[in-house]
Amino acid sequence: MLNRWCSILVLVALLFGLLPSPAGAVKSYLFKTCNDSGFCHRNRHFASEVAKIGSDFESRYSINSQDLSIKKDKGLVEGSLLKRLNDGSHVSLPFQISVLSDLNLRLKVNEERTGFNSKALNSKRYDEASKWAFTQEPDLTTFDYSLSDDTLVLTYGEYQAIVNLTQFKIEILYKGTLRITMNDRNLLNMEHYRTKEQQEAENSIHIAPEESTYNAYSDSFKDSKKDKLPFGPESVALDFTFSGYKHVYGIPEHADSLSLKDTTDSEPYRLFNVDIFEYETQSKYPMYGSIPFMIAVSPESSAGIFWINSADTYVDIRKEESNIEEETDQQVLSSKDNLEKVETHWMSENGIIDVVLIVKNNPQSVSQSYGKLTGFTTLPNMFSLGYHQCRWNYNDELDVLDISSKFDEHQIPYDTIWLDIEYTDEKKYFTWKKELFPDHDRMLAKLDETGRNLVAIIDPHLKTHYEVSEQVEKLDVGIKNHNADEIYKGHCWPGESVWIDTLNPESQPFWNKQFENGSEFAGYARNLHIWNDMNEPSVFNGPETTSPKDNIHYGNWEHRSVHNLYGLTYHEATYEAMIQRNPDIRPFILTRSFYSGSQRTSAMWTGDNMAKWEYLKESIPQILTMNVVGFQFAGADVAGFFGNPDKELLTRWYQAGIWYPFFRGHAHIDSRRREPWIAGEPYTSIMRDALRFRYKLLPVLYTQFYQSSLDGSPIMRPLSYETPENTKTYSIDDQFFFDQLLVKPVTSPGQDKVSIYIPDSKPYYNLNTLEKIVGEGYHEIEAPLESIPILIKSGSVIPIKARYRRSSRLMTFDPYTLFVTMDDSAKAKGYLYIDDGESFNHSLDQDFVYIEFEAGDNEIKSSIIDGDATKTFTSKLADVKVERIVLIGGPIVPPKTVDVVQGDKNWTAEVLPADGFWTIRNPGVIINQDWKISLAS
Ligand SMILES: *[C@@H]1O[C@H](CO)[C@@H](O)[C@H](O)[C@H]1NC(C)=O
Ligand SMILES: *[C@@H]1O[C@H](CO)[C@@H](O)[C@H](O)[C@H]1NC(C)=O
Ligand SMILES: *[C@@H]1O[C@H](CO)[C@@H](O)[C@H](O)[C@H]1NC(C)=O
Ligand SMILES: *[C@@H]1O[C@H](CO)[C@@H](O)[C@H](O)[C@H]1NC(C)=O
Ligand SMILES: *[C@@H]1O[C@H](CO)[C@@H](O)[C@H](O)[C@H]1NC(C)=O
Repeated sequence: MLNRWCSILVLVALLFGLLPSPAGAVKSYLFKTCNDSGFCHRNRHFASEVAKIGSDFESRYSINSQDLSIKKDKGLVEGSLLKRLNDGSHVSLPFQISVLSDLNLRLKVNEERTGFNSKALNSKRYDEASKWAFTQEPDLTTFDYSLSDDTLVLTYGEYQAIVNLTQFKIEILYKGTLRITMNDRNLLNMEHYRTKEQQEAENSIHIAPEESTYNAYSDSFKDSKKDKLPFGPESVALDFTFSGYKHVYGIPEHADSLSLKDTTDSEPYRLFNVDIFEYETQSKYPMYGSIPFMIAVSPESSAGIFWINSADTYVDIRKEESNIEEETDQQVLSSKDNLEKVETHWMSENGIIDVVLIVKNNPQSVSQSYGKLTGFTTLPNMFSLGYHQCRWNYNDELDVLDISSKFDEHQIPYDTIWLDIEYTDEKKYFTWKKELFPDHDRMLAKLDETGRNLVAIIDPHLKTHYEVSEQVEKLDVGIKNHNADEIYKGHCWPGESVWIDTLNPESQPFWNKQFENGSEFAGYARNLHIWNDMNEPSVFNGPETTSPKDNIHYGNWEHRSVHNLYGLTYHEATYEAMIQRNPDIRPFILTRSFYSGSQRTSAMWTGDNMAKWEYLKESIPQILTMNVVGFQFAGADVAGFFGNPDKELLTRWYQAGIWYPFFRGHAHIDSRRREPWIAGEPYTSIMRDALRFRYKLLPVLYTQFYQSSLDGSPIMRPLSYETPENTKTYSIDDQFFFDQLLVKPVTSPGQDKVSIYIPDSKPYYNLNTLEKIVGEGYHEIEAPLESIPILIKSGSVIPIKARYRRSSRLMTFDPYTLFVTMDDSAKAKGYLYIDDGESFNHSLDQDFVYIEFEAGDNEIKSSIIDGDATKTFTSKLADVKVERIVLIGGPIVPPKTVDVVQGDKNWTAEVLPADGFWTIRNPGVIINQDWKISLAS
């Protein structure tokens, strides 16, 4: 959400005499390229020099086998990595290799910096990124080993890690096959501490022939010339080769394809959280958040690299040239697979090397392993899976309540209305503009009557000279300037502002106070939730629109070291404050900036997109990428933040948006109003149908979230996750699975058909026509404006709630409809998770039921496989029934009636045949007890 941002920037530029050159893309002059970043330029140079020398290159890094301390029962190897300088002397870099209990290998390399003295700065390399990213320090597990002069081999489970000690490399073999090689190309580079004088001395021992000194002690990029770079060059870089893979995914946030591209002749992918203005699609530019986790997928196995560093980071990707056409024959493929590889080069501005290497059987297991380290998505409050209506801005209490009642007038369900920055008094967070919102408790209570919620924005920049920011200064919990002698002041929405330093534990009690019951901001409402925006942090007059890198945080760490995780510390502080406020309600927090671990407490969205078809199309790979890196609660603004969508785009965007795990309509202050009733017919009805369909699917979505909270499985799921054995799916990113539905939203204008790819040989059914479609490959299906292309995979049981209600809360005790789609062997399976949707009783008290539906052998049965049906909430489900079972692909001639058994009772239910399916009407079973229906009679 960026106001006349351009004009502000032009103003800032004028003030500082830095008018951007008119040529080029909208905003590229604001952001560094690799060549503009000293450390990226130096490491790419290093890589090209090493490549030129080729096999004659002698790595400067080695390990003396005498120095190793191998604690096999603890799962740990420790020692010193020696970096050889030009005169033959060495810098000693302490390292650890450990085997994590999930059978992943972790490598840490640090440097004990000596000779650096500063009161303001911690002289250590930042080594706490994992403390923020991980839920806890992972357990280690034992290994067997053998050691010779030049090789250490660790064996654990079906893995071997072969450590070459003379030219430090690690090869990871899984089931006897090489999958990952660390430092394969000798790009390991840890720029050790040396002063400028030492570096520049004649015959300096510190600079190897393959190294560059470009911008080692200064920054020539126009907006960051003032950067003090107190440690000089301190980057860490390392390369990893994935063997037997052609596709890699992950490392958000970028507006690019799902399958990451070769970057040899272009910019690397950059991970640096920035408020990117009018971002472009198909771009490697950094965006608002970063998750330094990459996954490679092949039919045989899947591998992951988790690079736990929170500094500015670039990743180069090189794919082995391969003459193989997109795969045709499975046989040919597997024999050539071993020749294929993806080479990656990771470069971070500072910090330590801390990396976890994961190899498993399939991508799902890699995601799960990553989730065991960083946490799984927390089960969201049910309301937050409904529809969110936002715009910049709903003007006042009347406007809010009017919009709310219009939804009811038009019989469109929605759960949450949002307030952007204008609700505050002069953009002072935790205040309300009294003329416009005279009694927010009253407004919230009114919304609560129909189960609705309010989300209000609270950003980390706090306007100077008011109560809250004065407290920040007084308590000394703000981000500091480079001398650490003053709180840093920059510009953002309110003008001059300070930033809360949520790395500082002292900031938490202060933050809690702002949200507590009875506070000016929060009042007493139980249906108030929070939007954390601008937490990259966005600083309008800062370099690259963010904090100067030499600002200082708690612990005397430079902002440079913690930049990419600041946004996480901020939304986590808000989450904690909301829990303190009301420990009985799951808080909903939307964040724009994120890091590994953000999935534990927040939802994210893809920021300021545009009301153009290409952004609708891009939203799908963007959200799929978030899903594969464990951040499932993701969405994109419907129907584009900037601009005015035409009616067709608006409608198609709603039809796509209902699949986003986080589903919000939002628009810029200069965009015209576009709530679904404004477009008129037939558009309004089509959007209403789409929105209602989302609500029908809430039981499915909620169940997906439950499963994801246990194992990290994606909710909007790429085809490569569903059928990793089919390599033809690997670059498909315009369709996806949502539970057992295969969906391909229409993302271009004037379409009335789509070609949808079926990845396996199972029968699928077109949900709109119930036509059976069989055969791996592309199938053309009808997709006129009023329909969304959806196929149901056979073998599934999909539980929905079919009745229209104004909000999700009002659906709590509604009956269920089950869609049973039989596969070729007349079997089907599905799951349903139910709890109260808002408290923590599911985890505190087992107050939930997890139900398995199974069809086969001429019967359908329902069994509670987890939870407890006798608790406060679940016992109330005794009134909730299944009102209908729809059978697709069942026996062609249905029985007239079926026999139903539940508990010690039994009865018969009527069957209504129809074209292509049949329905068991009112089977009469209640949802929180096991039941069985015999189909043969
Ligand atoms: C970056 O700098 C290197 C070395 O100065 C140069 O060879 C290369 O062409 C530059 N790349 C771009 C994209 O400008
Ligand atoms: C270690 O790596 C070097 C350089 O690639 C190679 O010459 C040597 O043979 C390797 N040692 C072992 C034991 O593989
Ligand atoms: C705040 O008020 C809510 C009722 O709106 C109550 O349930 C909650 O326990 C209160 N929180 C605290 C910390 O007193
Ligand atoms: C959660 O459990 C407590 C204790 O059993 C109960 O008082 C409360 O009503 C429950 N909350 C919900 C939303 O069911
Ligand atoms: C159905 O109930 C009757 C008694 O009401 C009982 O005799 C019969 O065995 C039951 N059938 C089944 C399949 O449980």
